[in-house]
Amino acid sequence: MNGPGGSPAPAMATETLAEQTVFLNGDFMPLSEARIPVLDRGFIFGDGVYEVVPVYGRKPFRWAQHHARLVRSLGELRIDNPRDAAGWRELVDALIARHPWDDQFVYMQVTRGVAKRDHGFPKGIVPTVFAMTSPLAPVPAAQLQNGVDAVSLPDQRWLRCDIKSVSLLGNVLARQAALDAGAVECIMFRDGELTEGSSSNIWVVQHGKVLAPPRDSRILEGIRYGLLQELCESEGIPFEVTAIPRDAVRHADELMLSSATKEVLAITRLDGEPVGSGKPGPVFTRLHAAYQRAKAAARA
Ligand code: PDD
Repeated sequence: MNGPGGSPAPAMATETLAEQTVFLNGDFMPLSEARIPVLDRGFIFGDGVYEVVPVYGRKPFRWAQHHARLVRSLGELRIDNPRDAAGWRELVDALIARHPWDDQFVYMQVTRGVAKRDHGFPKGIVPTVFAMTSPLAPVPAAQLQNGVDAVSLPDQRWLRCDIKSVSLLGNVLARQAALDAGAVECIMFRDGELTEGSSSNIWVVQHGKVLAPPRDSRILEGIRYGLLQELCESEGIPFEVTAIPRDAVRHADELMLSSATKEVLAITRLDGEPVGSGKPGPVFTRLHAAYQRAKAAARA
């Protein structure tokens, strides 16, 4: 089984998985008992949003930012937010408390609800709320030491990638293209410019400076986008938000990805060619160490 972002989740017996407690529409229940009507618009249209929140030492990391992004995604799709801020936090804390792992990742999903199939928004329906949690495995040591491979592809997704929608077909196809090539992530380009990875943000290091693609509707602004910017500032690493042409990626000194489950990771081969020295570089090493310090501070 793969966790979000394709990170390997620890082997888990099917029975254990089925016994996991999930939250569905107001109740906690075993995963094996959670049922969604087939007319749920999440199933029929992919009409819903989600969040993935890492949890360290039983504390959701950067919760305020994840909650704000969930509220924003719901608002952009005009789905009623079914819980207030305290209600969301209560739900997440209760889910974490029901599981034995100190480090987890919580998945939350809200769909527009259940209605007769019709593209337009139905009136008077209640959003479906689902949440589950899984153990958060450490990033494999080999990936930290060697970095990972990526492939590049044209970005084939829609133009509202800023919404964390469960409609992820473009991302699914991109990730599978990476896996088919024996790589871990797919780096996407639109009109010759870097957008992001299939489930991560992508960072380019050029002459000691970290370059980030603009926060616009062509990318999902990861919660680690803001975090890495802060870490660059505190580490004194120059940081610039700018359109990044394909050549700058191809000839980067370092490439990195970031996501809730992979933290920050070096990409050391792109389309079979070494990136820079072909090894994780000095900017990655500093940002990774700073990220570990931020996690440790959050646990304390
Ligand atoms: N994905 N861009 C895309 C398309 C993503 O799917 C993700 C995260 C990110 C990084 O966002 P964050 O830093 O908030 O994790 C960027 C999650 C992990 C997933 O879909 O499982």
